[in-house]
Amino acid sequence: MKKTICFLLLLMGCAISFAQSSPSNGMQIFIDSLLQKMTLEEKVGQMNQYNGFWEVTGPVPNEGNAKLKYEHLKKGMVGAVLNVKGTANVRKLQEIVVKESRLGIPLLFGFDVIHGYKTITPIPLAEAASWDLEAIEKSARIAAIEASAVGINWTFAPMVDITRDARWGRVMEGAGEDPYLGAKIGVARVKGFQGQDLSSSNTIAASVKHFAGYGFAEAGRDYNTVDVGTSTLYNIILPPFKATVDNDVKTVMNSFNTLNGIPATGNKFLQRDILKGKWNFKGFVVSDWGSGAELITHGFAKDLKEVAILSANAGSDMDMESYAYVTHLKEMVEAGKVDIAVVNDAVRRILQVKYELGLFADPYRYCDAQREKDLLYHPNHLAAALDIAKKSIVLLKNIKTTGQGNPLLPLNKNQKNIAVIGALANDKNSPLGSWRVGSDDNSAVSFLEGFKKYNSNFVYAKGADLVNGPTDFIHEVKINETDKSGFAQAIALAKKSSVVIMVLGEHGFQSGEGRSRSKLDLPGVQEALLEEIYKVNKNIVLVLMNGRPLAITWAQEHIPAILEAWQLGTQTGDAIAQVLFGDYNPSAKLPMTFPRSVGQEPLYYNHYSTGRPNTNDVVFWSHYSDESNEPLYPFGYGLSYTNFEYTDLKINDSDPSAIRVSVQVKNTGKIAGEEVVQLYLHDRVASVVRPVKELKGFKKILLHSGESTLVTFTLTNNELGFYNNEGVFVVESGDFDVMVGTNSIQGLSAVFTKK
Ligand code: GLC
Repeated sequence: MKKTICFLLLLMGCAISFAQSSPSNGMQIFIDSLLQKMTLEEKVGQMNQYNGFWEVTGPVPNEGNAKLKYEHLKKGMVGAVLNVKGTANVRKLQEIVVKESRLGIPLLFGFDVIHGYKTITPIPLAEAASWDLEAIEKSARIAAIEASAVGINWTFAPMVDITRDARWGRVMEGAGEDPYLGAKIGVARVKGFQGQDLSSSNTIAASVKHFAGYGFAEAGRDYNTVDVGTSTLYNIILPPFKATVDNDVKTVMNSFNTLNGIPATGNKFLQRDILKGKWNFKGFVVSDWGSGAELITHGFAKDLKEVAILSANAGSDMDMESYAYVTHLKEMVEAGKVDIAVVNDAVRRILQVKYELGLFADPYRYCDAQREKDLLYHPNHLAAALDIAKKSIVLLKNIKTTGQGNPLLPLNKNQKNIAVIGALANDKNSPLGSWRVGSDDNSAVSFLEGFKKYNSNFVYAKGADLVNGPTDFIHEVKINETDKSGFAQAIALAKKSSVVIMVLGEHGFQSGEGRSRSKLDLPGVQEALLEEIYKVNKNIVLVLMNGRPLAITWAQEHIPAILEAWQLGTQTGDAIAQVLFGDYNPSAKLPMTFPRSVGQEPLYYNHYSTGRPNTNDVVFWSHYSDESNEPLYPFGYGLSYTNFEYTDLKINDSDPSAIRVSVQVKNTGKIAGEEVVQLYLHDRVASVVRPVKELKGFKKILLHSGESTLVTFTLTNNELGFYNNEGVFVVESGDFDVMVGTNSIQGLSAVFTKK
């Protein structure tokens, strides 16, 4: 024991002295020296991640898996754990490894800090609707501060899976359908998590996921097959990953799906040729939960030994909960099936992240019980969560109803005789969304609680339950499909009210992992409730709380005011109230297309023309006989309580390497507002067909009533080029359409020629 402590002190001393010399070669020297001391078994141990297996303040596990894991912990055969939280637990586990294992290499503590830890911010799809990169980075920053305060030093975020199919449950976790917006947001999140100095005790390593293609699961069914062409892979799926790698993301998580027949965890092309080769990624790849062992179920590996061989050789550096590496990798190296260089490279990458986190200098830097007390739910975090929440709310519709001088929104703060209807209005849990494993149940400000702070002149009826029975992270949500017994009371209240606010949508556990839906309607009896209320009172404001685009076509045709309020996290009620009563003028824009019906899915704005995009009064063109091709709400769409006028679009291509586009934008309404000015390009003719339009720039501006400003963009080869089917980035001459406007279908257009 004494020897170990002396060695440890020596090791830590080295770490500190190396760090004081030039960091990078100090780190390499330190890691080289450590690698030389490690046995093969200890190296394999670094490549092994276990799920948290006991609350260490409890009795030491003495049976089954937990006993095995405990033994491995003491023998230095665990490199990381996940789902261990609380400085007491983290410190205890870290002490076991640092004091009892031979080399005392500290653990990484991973956790799904997806949109907040205790202070829960809006689901990522909602945050993406803000198009506010600063607010999004801030949201990740406060998540990192709270997570690190409870001992976590690694988050499995940001998820940057581009997706075009709202049936997929995990659309809530990403930034929607566009790679340009998705890349910007992914980088903002990485910067928020990792901060300026990864060795600081309030920054954590990020893990960009899921590499790659997971969002293209066939039919939107989670974990389903992914088969995509080269152009979609290189131009749609990969750019957000590459952007985060170019911005120093420390880890990458691979994915459950096959990509063109090869499971991502065993996919050498993805992990070695692209990620570590072309992109020169220096961090490490962690598998998704059990995705290594699933190579067997996919029919790609015959047993766990082959899993160890195929995954390690393909570049999956750390095995999360498959037990493949810890059970077989040493034997496979000794049998010559996996070269020791593969293991050394993986271990080097893992040790490097630990070094950069400062864990060798101080393994307990994330174990400060005082920070845990001081920082969770800090007022600054709650303020930031409220800010991003209100900026995520999309105004979808707001028109005058018959006999009304003004649109229903914003509501008058002295408005009397209001009815609020809907189970979600009184729900403090569902608005936290599905990926909130660190949160406290029922910790959201409910719609009613927020509303009441502005106006208590309302009556409430839930109208109908949304769910039947308890809900949790791992079981199906039982939706109330039949019980309308609460309708009568709600209808009676609506009849007597001057305005009705209906809060409808999905339960927080109806989206997220394993939560794909075959329909995109309002779940259960909610659509029926809405139509019944409409029969007795047409002055309805519909507030949606959902984790995916919904096909709310009837509502769009009948309901005068509609707010998309997603699942906004802890500050839900306050954020919605600020928008409803006009203290915040809604500014968000949809990051994902809303379809008219589920049959249109996958439906997205940056589609190809096809050879027959238009009818010629015959059926022989690309369409449905029973549905429009148009979306219900397009990508980039969102209204404001004021209006913006776009004029004077100009292109200056005197410098072909930096083509300047400018447009005048004026606030022609009566109140100040923010507008997301969007720039779309269409490369008319190319060696690989290009989408009819692609987002290539956006700026969020604030204009006061009557104020006008010139908004400029610069287009370089980065915006004009694309990846061809050999994966080579090319820029081709020819005509480009430019559209600058308020969403992906409304704006001013012009054309220029790239010489
Ligand atoms: C899950 C998810 C992944 C998550 C991991 C650890 O299955 O796919 O996103 O980070 O397991 O919880």
